[in-house]
Amino acid sequence: MTDSLILTEKNGAVFVITLNRPNAMNALCTPLMQALKDALQQAQQDDTIKVLVIMGSEKAFAAGADIAEMKEKTYIEAYKENYITNAWEALATCRKPVIAAVRGFALGGGAELTMMCDIVLASPTAKFGQPEVNLGILPGAGATQRLGKSVGKAKAMDWCLTGRMISAEEAERAGLVSQILPEETFVDDVMKVAQTLAKKSLPSLMMIKEAVLASFETPLAQGITFERRLFHAVFATHDQKEGMAAFLEKRKPEFRDA
Ligand code: CAA
Repeated sequence: MTDSLILTEKNGAVFVITLNRPNAMNALCTPLMQALKDALQQAQQDDTIKVLVIMGSEKAFAAGADIAEMKEKTYIEAYKENYITNAWEALATCRKPVIAAVRGFALGGGAELTMMCDIVLASPTAKFGQPEVNLGILPGAGATQRLGKSVGKAKAMDWCLTGRMISAEEAERAGLVSQILPEETFVDDVMKVAQTLAKKSLPSLMMIKEAVLASFETPLAQGITFERRLFHAVFATHDQKEGMAAFLEKRKPEFRDA
């Protein structure tokens, strides 16, 4: 399926969403974010999709929220429409695993989008940053809250207060990026990671995502109890029986996602 601001493609159990605003470095205007939300809902509702990939172009994953759209916005307009909320938070609440595939600029809201994804794969060309301070504003799509949880307070403060660009290597060292993959084979390598996940059991993937995300919201003892309850629940699935039987019978599991 193709529309103007995003492209989507289903490749087996992998759903690829490509941000497609090449003339504006994939700046995240409201219609683009609405299209992203619609695509996420489509993937969420399709039982045959297990993993999502969000990518941009070679030049830019996304250079942030749309500055032209924001410039003349008044307080009351931003408040009434709940700017940077509805469509943006759709990504944070997606229950299936989402891979961010980052080449080029991932700035401001673009970097914040990657923080709402689960695995962040970057090419050596990736450049992250929170340059909002240079516009006389602050990050508004979660970086002041989520960044510190990935990279710690000192780096979150450095990146947000200086607005400097962060290389792929620095982002990987700091914990914002999961893996750096070579530029020449980037898309193929991203798809290999996605296909690795696509071979797993969907309930298992979803429970892992839910449990890891819960760790950011709950005290340790409560989080461990939550994990334990999910762990007990997984014994109700076909795929737990099949996965363990396959291991003991020295064969590949045939998961049913049930
Ligand atoms: N919003 C709107 N348009 C943008 C944009 C953005 N965030 N980023 C780039 N563009 C547009 C440029 O205006 C330019 O358009 P025109 O050709 O019509 O002039 C086009 O994309 C190409 O950009 P440049 O000519 O600037 O390309 P460059 O290679 O010289 O620089 C860049 C690339 C470093 C990414 C630079 O475009 C840039 O600094 N962009 C803005 C980054 C930024 O400040 N992001 C934060 C936005 S605020 C935010 O995101 C708030 C939040 O937390 C939600």
